[in-house]
Amino acid sequence: MKILVTGGAGYIGSHTVVELQNTGHNVVVIDNLSNSKEIALQRVSQITNKPIDFYNIDIRDFNALDKLLDKYSFDCCIHFAGLKAVGESVQKPLDYYDNNVGGTVTLLRALNKHNCKNIIFSSSACVYGNPKIIPITEECPKGLCTNPYGQTKHIIEEIMKDLQKCDSDWNIVLLRYFNPIGAHKSGTIGEDPNGIPNNLMPFITQVAVGKRPELNVFGDDYDTHDGTGVRDYIHVVDLARGHVSALKAIENKCGLEIFNLGTGNGYSVLDVVHTFEKVNNLKIPYVIKPRRAGDVPTCYSNADKAKKVLGWSAQFNLEDMCRDSWNWQKNNPNGYDE
Ligand code: NAD
Ligand code: UD1
Repeated sequence: MKILVTGGAGYIGSHTVVELQNTGHNVVVIDNLSNSKEIALQRVSQITNKPIDFYNIDIRDFNALDKLLDKYSFDCCIHFAGLKAVGESVQKPLDYYDNNVGGTVTLLRALNKHNCKNIIFSSSACVYGNPKIIPITEECPKGLCTNPYGQTKHIIEEIMKDLQKCDSDWNIVLLRYFNPIGAHKSGTIGEDPNGIPNNLMPFITQVAVGKRPELNVFGDDYDTHDGTGVRDYIHVVDLARGHVSALKAIENKCGLEIFNLGTGNGYSVLDVVHTFEKVNNLKIPYVIKPRRAGDVPTCYSNADKAKKVLGWSAQFNLEDMCRDSWNWQKNNPNGYDE
């Protein structure tokens, strides 16, 4: 298929471009490089041995999208572009609504105009809020998102549902990601956060590489097996492959479908720390801190629907994720800045 990938220079986008190219799809990437670097795409090209058509386009720029869609005829859009820092979204809510919600509406308008009515969207498990069912199925009612970032995912999902309701030519797959970590096994592409990482794994790898003295563990008094928060960590390559599988739903004219992309396993913060230490033969010093505002105790998926409908399930385990995260970080101590 001919696929437009928005945000394709980012962490999940770059890994997905690898899997798309490796399975014979033809990819055009757009990205405004607000949270990524073009070198990531050069590295993707080295992995796949295929060139990538890249355009520095902001999804809020209708005219630029219009011109691009005049030039190419796409079978599907995979839409990663968006801002994703939870804390920043609390400081700058309008930037998040403008970029994520406004940008997506502009993108949908442009696709609609050019009759490309197939899209796969990067949603998040955060739309479940504090989940009412564990493991979380797609039927689990959505919950209260405690920050503007999460709200943008919820709002975009609702916009897409309305669009598909009013025009059944649209095929829309909402993928609710759990916690992507890990990196491509080559160690040449990976997650490259700006500043102090908010998320657990990039923080652990920065402690391991000596950039930070110790990990803060946010809370050890949750109702979980060791008191620390439990999440469904998924290898980013498995997640990327989930998008290739989701194209099947698009080809089958699915209307609107929602899939969890997770492993179905919940691991605590300390499970991750100890697995990372064991697999990589390293020590990660940590201190217990108070709970982080907005965190839920436990969040992991029931991933049966993706297996049944798409034939997709995660192949990598927590050890693989810890090994590959470290392989990326140790080979690129400063991320893409060398
Ligand atoms: P990322 O920041 O690495 O990638 C997003 C990319 O979008 C970046 O390359 C950025 O430059 C680009 N971008 C942002 N705004 C843009 C705009 N207006 N126009 C064009 N490009 C723009 O993030 P990621 O981790 O790869 O996440 C990809 C998507 O998945 C995001 O929508 C994110 O919200 C969602 N998601 C991520 C996670 C996670 O843990 N990483 C979890 C759930 C959902
Ligand atoms: C966070 C976001 C979520 C987003 C997801 C992926 C919040 C409240 N939620 O989810 O909206 O979709 O990232 O980008 O920020 N932890 C520590 N020390 C750290 C970092 C994390 O103990 O330095 C703990 C957390 O308390 C949590 C677990 O590790 O229990 C995972 O945290 P994180 O990687 O930030 O992911 P989420 O909180 O699940």
